[in-house]
Amino acid sequence: MHERWLEVLDIKMAMMERRSIRKYKSDPVPDDMVQELMEAARLAPSGTNHQPWRFIIVKNQGVKEQIQAAAFNQKFLSQAPILLVCCADLTTYAKDTRKRLQELIDAGVFGPEAFDSYPGIDVVKDANTLKAFVPHAMLNVGLAMEHIALRAVSLGLGTCWVQLMKAKQIAQILELPEHLVITGLMPVGFPDQNPAPRPRVSVQDIVYKVIE
Ligand SMILES: Cc1cc2nc3c(=O)[nH]c(=O)nc-3n(C[C@H](O)[C@H](O)[C@H](O)COP(=O)(O)O)c2cc1C
Repeated sequence: MHERWLEVLDIKMAMMERRSIRKYKSDPVPDDMVQELMEAARLAPSGTNHQPWRFIIVKNQGVKEQIQAAAFNQKFLSQAPILLVCCADLTTYAKDTRKRLQELIDAGVFGPEAFDSYPGIDVVKDANTLKAFVPHAMLNVGLAMEHIALRAVSLGLGTCWVQLMKAKQIAQILELPEHLVITGLMPVGFPDQNPAPRPRVSVQDIVYKVIE
C-alpha cells in the first residue's frame, strides 16, 4: 500500500478511536508524552500563522481542584493527572505582523502591494483592539486542542474537551494577564474507561447543499 495512504489511515483511526474520557487512571503521564502533545499543538495551522495558542500544564492537585470548582465541579478535571488550560495570547496578533504578511506573500496568497492594504498590518496593542481577535483566537486554539486530542489517542492517552467553565474565575486562580484568554480546558491521562462511540448525525445530514 502507498505510504501516504497508510498515514491517512492512521489519522482516520485516531479520529475513530478518540472519545471524551471522563475517568482516568492515577498513573502519571510521562513528561516526554506531554512534550509530544505540545509538539502536536505547535504543528496546528493558524490564521496568518500567528500561532496564538499557549498552555498552562497543571499537575498540582490543589490547583486542579480549584479549577474544577470554577468549572461547575466536573469531577474528572481534578482526577486527571494533567489538566491543560488552553489559552490564546492576544498579543500575537499585534506582533510580527509584517513577517506574517510576508509569509502569505511568499506563499503566493497576495502580491507585495498587500503591505499597503492588508488590514492586519498595523494592529495596535491596546486591550480593546486585541479583544476583537478573541473569536479568531478561539478557533485557532481549538485547532491546536484537537491536534492534542488526536495525538493523545496515538499515545494511548485520553482527553476531554471542556468549555463549561468560568474562564474569568480560572484566570484569577492562575493569575493570568489580561491578554491571555482561556479558551478551554483539557484533562489528559490514561483512560480508565472505554466508552462506546457517541452518536453522530449522518454525512447526508451535514451536507447542506452541493452547488455544481
Ligand atoms: C467545544 C467543546 C466543549 C465541550 N465541553 C465539554 C464540557 O465542558 N464537559 C464535558 O464533559 N464534555 C465537553 N465536551 C465533550 C462533548 O460532550 C463530546 O465531545 C461529545 O458528547 C461527543 O462525544 P465524544 O467526544 O466521546 O465523541 C465538549 C466538546 C467540545 C468540542
